[in-house]
Amino acid sequence: MPKTNIAVLGAQWGDEGKGKIVDMLTPHFAAVARYQGGHNAGHTVYVEGKKFVLHLIPSGILHPGVTCIIGNGVVIDPQALFKEVDELDRMGVSVEGRLLVSEKAHVILPYHRELDVLSEARRGERKIGTTSRGIGPAYEDKIGRRGIRVCDLLGDRTALADEVRENVSARNRIIKDSTLDWKPVFDRLVADGERMRPWVGDVSLFIHGLIKDDKAVMFEGAQATLLDIDHGTYPYVTSSNASVGGVCTGLGVPPRVIGGVLGVAKAYTTRVGEGPLPTELSGELADRLRESGQEYGASTGRPRRCGWYDAVVVRYSARINGLDAIALTKLDVLDGLPEVLICTGYKTGSGTLTDFPADLRTLTGAEPIYERMPGWSTPTKGVTRFDDLPVEAQKYVRKLEEVTGVACAIVSTGSDRSETIVKNGSLVEAWLGLGT
Ligand code: IMP
Repeated sequence: MPKTNIAVLGAQWGDEGKGKIVDMLTPHFAAVARYQGGHNAGHTVYVEGKKFVLHLIPSGILHPGVTCIIGNGVVIDPQALFKEVDELDRMGVSVEGRLLVSEKAHVILPYHRELDVLSEARRGERKIGTTSRGIGPAYEDKIGRRGIRVCDLLGDRTALADEVRENVSARNRIIKDSTLDWKPVFDRLVADGERMRPWVGDVSLFIHGLIKDDKAVMFEGAQATLLDIDHGTYPYVTSSNASVGGVCTGLGVPPRVIGGVLGVAKAYTTRVGEGPLPTELSGELADRLRESGQEYGASTGRPRRCGWYDAVVVRYSARINGLDAIALTKLDVLDGLPEVLICTGYKTGSGTLTDFPADLRTLTGAEPIYERMPGWSTPTKGVTRFDDLPVEAQKYVRKLEEVTGVACAIVSTGSDRSETIVKNGSLVEAWLGLGT
């Protein structure tokens, strides 16, 4: 068992294939811990031809004996959690005895989804394109200090009744002519709490115990750096810290326990929802990437916007998160293209940019500066050794390493666990205690 605790997080706008990477690394860890987001995430994992879609529960659950943790930084819709537990059960995966839910996590209340939809409608053309799961309103209540936590569902009923009453009345003030009754909400939450009770505990204490016993923990991010509430393309972001800072606040662990940070980046770029995407493609090429990459949201089924690899974005992610290595995914989706383009900078009204700007107006008008590389006709699909990749694909990966300054320790060449290259001598091997 290795002793390196690592964070695995998205380096672009999400949907990079974190689920597969977390799943394949899991056997080397005692626990996998989610630190932010909610069931807006959709992590798809294929195991021996079976498709699993996880939203709240870390992808590590597919490995027996591994504890899966939902941290205080996550917002939990109890119904979504139960649905996921039941679905896993039906597929022969039991969570009993290996799921730990933070008592400090905030609960998505039944009407948060309604508030999400309402807020989008109010924004009109400026809508964010949320997943409509009530994520933003739940985090608003948390920051507004009227949120309801998992421990509140399990404690004193009178105190919970007061909190629900207060929260519902805040909601009624927002929705015109609404007179929602707090009592059915209260009853629902009490019942939800009872079902969750066996899973609930002190996540920080548990993780500290594992680390003290020399067991390794993987910290799993949802969404991605460019959707981070502080460092993403605000306001077109999610409402939590998806970047590495979220690990500490979302689980109650100090920064020094994070021994390595693995960024997951697709060999091209996608985004779902609104907001700038400088390398966005349209027409035939976009359709081709979307179809061959199956670029449709795992949570909402929405088609994803597709574009070339943006090294400005990944360099920025590397800086924000201190990426030690990258897991490059979906290389096989580029198979057969006559050429592949890499964005290395942006041309803007005020000159050339090589660092990601904060102001969306700068970004919206930015014109990508591309480096063009020859494509490859021999398929990379299923290749498991770097040297077996077509030479042009090897050159493409090396160029990405050069322009981002981060090594691609893992290259994924298909959706199955087995369709993966772990580069010899890479940092990932060292983290896992493999190699020489
Ligand atoms: P919310 O998280 O539902 O509030 O949505 C805010 C933004 O984050 C929208 O652009 C969503 O499309 C995006 N988003 C949320 N979760 C994911 C995800 O798991 N993958 C990709 N985009 C996401």
